[in-house]
Amino acid sequence: MRHVSAGSGNRTETMLSVSDLSLELATYDGTVQVLDNINLAVGRRETIGVVGETGCGKSVLAKSVLDLLPRAIARYRRGSIRWKGENLLSATRKRLRQVRGTEIGMVFQDPMTFFDPLYTAGSYMMEAIGHRERVKGDGGSRARRKAEAIDLLGRLGLTEPDRVFDSYPHQLSGGMRQRVLIAAAIAGSPELIIADEPTTALDVTVQAQILHLLKEIVETRDTSILLISHDLGVIASMCERIVVMYAGTIVETGTKRQLLSRPAHPYTIGLISAVPRLGYPQKQVKGIAGHIPNLLNPPPGCRFAPRCHKATALCRKVKPELATFSGGRQVACHHPEPFE
Ligand SMILES: Nc1ncnc2c1ncn2[C@@H]1O[C@H](COP(=O)(O)OP(=O)(O)OP(=O)(O)O)[C@@H](O)[C@H]1O
Ligand SMILES: [Mg+2]
Repeated sequence: MRHVSAGSGNRTETMLSVSDLSLELATYDGTVQVLDNINLAVGRRETIGVVGETGCGKSVLAKSVLDLLPRAIARYRRGSIRWKGENLLSATRKRLRQVRGTEIGMVFQDPMTFFDPLYTAGSYMMEAIGHRERVKGDGGSRARRKAEAIDLLGRLGLTEPDRVFDSYPHQLSGGMRQRVLIAAAIAGSPELIIADEPTTALDVTVQAQILHLLKEIVETRDTSILLISHDLGVIASMCERIVVMYAGTIVETGTKRQLLSRPAHPYTIGLISAVPRLGYPQKQVKGIAGHIPNLLNPPPGCRFAPRCHKATALCRKVKPELATFSGGRQVACHHPEPFE
């Protein structure tokens, strides 16, 4: 069986490549098997989407790339995380600090974990721009940096960017904080942006504005994006390639067209049927019955088997491998829907 990472393959230069990554978290309750054999790659100027229900390990995956999980509890069992060929799992703290912000920018799901209440929104932006200028040698005056920061806040749909610039985190709404966080990530001009639910706290018009800006950045700045969301609609509007995660595993990957028109994995089919469509009565939205399994003690075979209407004894016993098919689609299922 061929093992190919979800993502760019050989089409473009690979920027980020996660290979065979398995991660456990040591908690008071026991060991949580939070990521199991994750493979994905993001090419230059590519936007890859990771989608899955709450608790399936999307944020843990995002944080693992920049070593942002608490070191006391995170245990990497296997695998590598390569950034332009360099394995970040063995990088020094100094090197990781260099990578964060200027090479890889991160938009956190919960902005409050990022902000210190003693610093204004503007100070984060000034720091990001200043850091970029030091690294890239394109330094300018403080006034020019401030003008750049305020312009960016305005482009993210903040109506009073000057006021936001001078505000402390507690003076801003959740949606405003989220946009400041996005602005700070963009301001550093990183080569890759990892955006974890970047628009979840925002209303749909602002969401559209931000997604548009992210697209523009990919096109004009040679940037790649790893976009993480539980919202298949957001992922489909932004990404040509999609990775579907379930309970710490990748269950299916493919192009947007492959996945949306002929999904193969029963979980992907469930995710698609759970998206409400305009004009359809609510009762036609089916969703997926049941819950993600407890990762302290995941099911021995396919992690989706307890919720799957197609599950057999084989599924409950033997874990399906992520197999690669024509067109680069990958599926981890003993009984996929016909898709070729
Ligand atoms: N610091 C931590 N300590 C212990 N368990 C954790 C920690 N962080 C995450 N987990 C567990 O890891 C699993 C994956 O969590 P994660 O936050 O990655 O999910 P997610 O897919 O991002 O969900 P959501 O869509 O709600 O953001 C969950 O079972 C969660 O309880
Ligand atoms: Mg999350």
